[in-house]
Amino acid sequence: MCGIVAYIGKNKAKDLLLDGLKSLEYRGYDSAGIAVLDDSKIELIKSAGKIAKLEQKIAELRSPALVADSASSEFNSMLAERLSKAFETSSCGIGHTRWATHGIASDGNAHPHQDLEADIALVHNGIIKNYLSLKHELEQDGIEFRTETDTEVIAHLFSRARQQTESDLDALRQVMAKVEGSYALAILVKDQQKIILAKNQSPLVIGIGDGEHFVASDSSTVLQYTNKVLKLKDLQVAEVTAGQVKLEDINGNESKIEVCHSVQNNSILEKGPYKHFLVKEINEQPAVTSLMLDQCLANPAKPISGFEQLDIDFSQINRIVFVACGSAYHAALIGKYLIELWAKVPVEVAIASEYASKQVLVGESDLVLGISQSGETADTLAAVTNAKQAGAKVMAITNKSDSAIYDLVSPNAYVTPAGIEVSVASTKAFTSQVLSLYFLAIKIAEDRLNADLTEVKQALRSLPLVIDQVIERAEQYQNQFLKYSNYRDFLFLSRGVNYPIALEGALKLKELSYIHATGYPSGEMKHGPIAILDQNVPVLSIAIDGPTKFEHGIYERSLSNAEEARARKSPSLVIACDDNNDLDGVFDEIIRIPNIDQLLSPIIATIPLQFLAYYIAEDLGKDVDQPRNLAKSVTVE
Ligand code: M6R
Repeated sequence: MCGIVAYIGKNKAKDLLLDGLKSLEYRGYDSAGIAVLDDSKIELIKSAGKIAKLEQKIAELRSPALVADSASSEFNSMLAERLSKAFETSSCGIGHTRWATHGIASDGNAHPHQDLEADIALVHNGIIKNYLSLKHELEQDGIEFRTETDTEVIAHLFSRARQQTESDLDALRQVMAKVEGSYALAILVKDQQKIILAKNQSPLVIGIGDGEHFVASDSSTVLQYTNKVLKLKDLQVAEVTAGQVKLEDINGNESKIEVCHSVQNNSILEKGPYKHFLVKEINEQPAVTSLMLDQCLANPAKPISGFEQLDIDFSQINRIVFVACGSAYHAALIGKYLIELWAKVPVEVAIASEYASKQVLVGESDLVLGISQSGETADTLAAVTNAKQAGAKVMAITNKSDSAIYDLVSPNAYVTPAGIEVSVASTKAFTSQVLSLYFLAIKIAEDRLNADLTEVKQALRSLPLVIDQVIERAEQYQNQFLKYSNYRDFLFLSRGVNYPIALEGALKLKELSYIHATGYPSGEMKHGPIAILDQNVPVLSIAIDGPTKFEHGIYERSLSNAEEARARKSPSLVIACDDNNDLDGVFDEIIRIPNIDQLLSPIIATIPLQFLAYYIAEDLGKDVDQPRNLAKSVTVE
């Protein structure tokens, strides 16, 4: 979490820093700040709230209103003028957008942080695990802390180390020897035209320009300016000037500078005709699905393609373990259902944070597969690393080829072509993960059992059209859902392959509207959750009929469970196919989707639930694209 940027060169740093921070806002958006080098001093400004608020604060420095207001305080007006001049002229600076880990989102806790003498300013992404003991030591030495952050210890430690060493990189290494945890650091030093960097377990890249350098947590930020990117490795430090990068390892040895040439990305992501990125991304699902089908399933009569890059012999795999978080975990549960059904391989699904640090009993015939849209989720990375170290084969499904998980499992990654997902709540990335798991399950079944799944493959080809038809019903769904905006608790129920969609529906509603919602397997309701039911708790069931006797049983039993909820006076909603005409009188609200085979229905059934969360959040006036407390990329464990 948190995004950091830095710039040194010939252009105005402030503008580049703010633009960079905006492109990193997906990593956290509860406060932001920048610092620039002005002649001999470091000038900084920070603010709780989003980057727009910081921008406004900077603009106000020049506003006559502020100067007039502060006429009584000559000091304030001089300070505003000094800061304003520094921001207009400096070509060297650092910036930060925060997702609070230690200390509330406030102006004071926002980065950059400084030492007591204001000789340095630094921004940090990561967590210093032993900050409390370091803080106590520093306090005993008379240092008064001004923030509640873990980061402030680094500012004081670095400042002290500088007094005892000749070189700033040596001083930084001394700090690195003391701190435990993860960090990407960018540091400004008074009087010196340079930026100092360090990295451990948090991403940090340098974009190499012509007489200028751009630093960021994510290459997509620097790719707006240059296609030459240098990725720092763990425990490397760097000193960056306008014309040069000096890179060293933890022992002080010079490291080789390996610059990769990436495709430059000058495109600015736009909402187009949509009010929010979320609804834009919901609407992109037919196109993404279509693209994936063309890539992997162009001819249903042929074996599935798109996995040629993998160095895995599925006939040698005896067990698969999925590790993932949030929506990706829900996708994994669907993957388990499909792989066990078609490929007959036992599959476990683990919450990545639970799998990350336990003793895992895996060997070379086990495949541990991490699913992560961002490819940067710390818990998922830790879980895959744990499995890799224990001897398992590892693989990933990710939406970003330029990500840590891709590098970790290379070449065993399948990259979903969902495109950049801006909205924090996952929609198109989730459905693309689910579809990739259909492909993977078919691939494993074909490789291991020589299974003929032509019929399933043909049916999958109809998905883009059906998704389109669901999206066309958005207005009808809106009318149905808005009646439920004022409830405070929701229960989502389903069985079998759609049980994970009940979990996903509940997660979406929770994160977008802040309404408490829980997903359960329908059959589990009577074992406890039923106690909370009354007229104030709507129950939404996903009940899709199946063509076989076994699957039909799932539908019937889902209906009886919904009846049980209704008997407790709960308002009852159901997602059901057009042809199911035995539902009137059983449910208060029937949310119709086009007829679809039960086995293929998760992707279709999830779309009305995306709309449910969207319309209710909009109705309640919530921040749809950037819900409170969340971040798109969760890079701390
Ligand atoms: O980038 P990842 O797929 O690893 O992210 C995992 C979760 O943080 C993510 O799915 C989260 O739950 C979303 N906000 C759900 O909408």
